[in-house]
Amino acid sequence: MKLNIVCIPGDGIGPEIVAQAKKVLDKVTAVYGHEIVFTDILMGGASIDACGEPLTQEAIDTAKAADAVLMGSIGGNTTTSPWYKLPPEKRPEAGLLKIRKELGLFANLRPAYLFPELAAACPLAKGTSDKGFDLLIMRELTGGLYFGARHTEVIDGVRTAVDTLTYNENEIRRIAVKAFEAARKRKGKVTSVDKANVLDSSRLWRAVTAEVAADYPDVTLENMLVDNCAMQLVKDPAQFDVILTENMFGDILSDEASMITGSIGMLSSASLNETRFGLYEPSHGSAPDIAGMDIANPIATILSASMMLRYSFDLNKEADSIEEAVKAVLKEGYRTGDIYTEGTVKVGCNEMGSLISDRIK
Ligand code: IPM
Ligand code: MG
Repeated sequence: MKLNIVCIPGDGIGPEIVAQAKKVLDKVTAVYGHEIVFTDILMGGASIDACGEPLTQEAIDTAKAADAVLMGSIGGNTTTSPWYKLPPEKRPEAGLLKIRKELGLFANLRPAYLFPELAAACPLAKGTSDKGFDLLIMRELTGGLYFGARHTEVIDGVRTAVDTLTYNENEIRRIAVKAFEAARKRKGKVTSVDKANVLDSSRLWRAVTAEVAADYPDVTLENMLVDNCAMQLVKDPAQFDVILTENMFGDILSDEASMITGSIGMLSSASLNETRFGLYEPSHGSAPDIAGMDIANPIATILSASMMLRYSFDLNKEADSIEEAVKAVLKEGYRTGDIYTEGTVKVGCNEMGSLISDRIK
């Protein structure tokens, strides 16, 4: 198979972690007899510096012409970087929101899995981490507060800011369908997370999700309020299978879910539209404080490349080979600094990429 991949190295640690994912993909495609072509585009701060805007039309067109997009991370230090002196629509994050919207990537899949080898790095109580967990956050990605109308004005001398949270039933239905489909292939449970005791958008979310559930009698639907979900994630994460939620709640809960796996550096994600096209990126940010030091953890990006093979190309054996290689390296005791515990072997970003690549078979 020929794989036409657009890469967005981005900012901060982005270029180093994407380089490791490319290394692993090159190895996989060589072992399994595929051809892979990488084309880089600029986004975020790198694009602001080179082109004066966080995402150019040309970059969008290049991404649209690819089979899939593999991204590192974008953005800088929000208090010190000059990018954050620009108006909001010119900042690095605007590029990410624009590509999500332009490519119609409404379904954001963020798996959170506790590798048994990393149980020692899990911040939860031992009795809880011993049980392990394997959950998937299905986050709506192109609606809600992120894309509603917003403005700031002065009313009677008082500065006032407005953000709008809107969802229509079609937006809710299509992400709910994705969640139920995913649950069917996993443990058969969807927990729909909302704030239905306060928000109208959440009450509609609950109603539409119940309608979708009627088509999936084999999947159990449970509703949970978002504040309770935040608590349950640290109390008993093993209870979850698929967590279905809107954009902003999903942003917050997915950081929490990733942290309880031991490190945010382990978590991959896929952003999908109705077709097989997807954008794959680690769930973590650009970590500007450690950029260029060869100490970042490339595993989240490497696992995102594995998700890409699975979801955009149906290359399941190849995707498995990456996950197996990651597990093998962890089992052998290799760790980047973020997941290092006494008695293991500390390695850098580049070496971690090579160790994983060497174990692809
Ligand atoms: C994420 C990030 C983005 C988001 C930011 C960078 C705009 O936090 O992918 O979770 O909030 O969606
Ligand atoms: Mg986030």
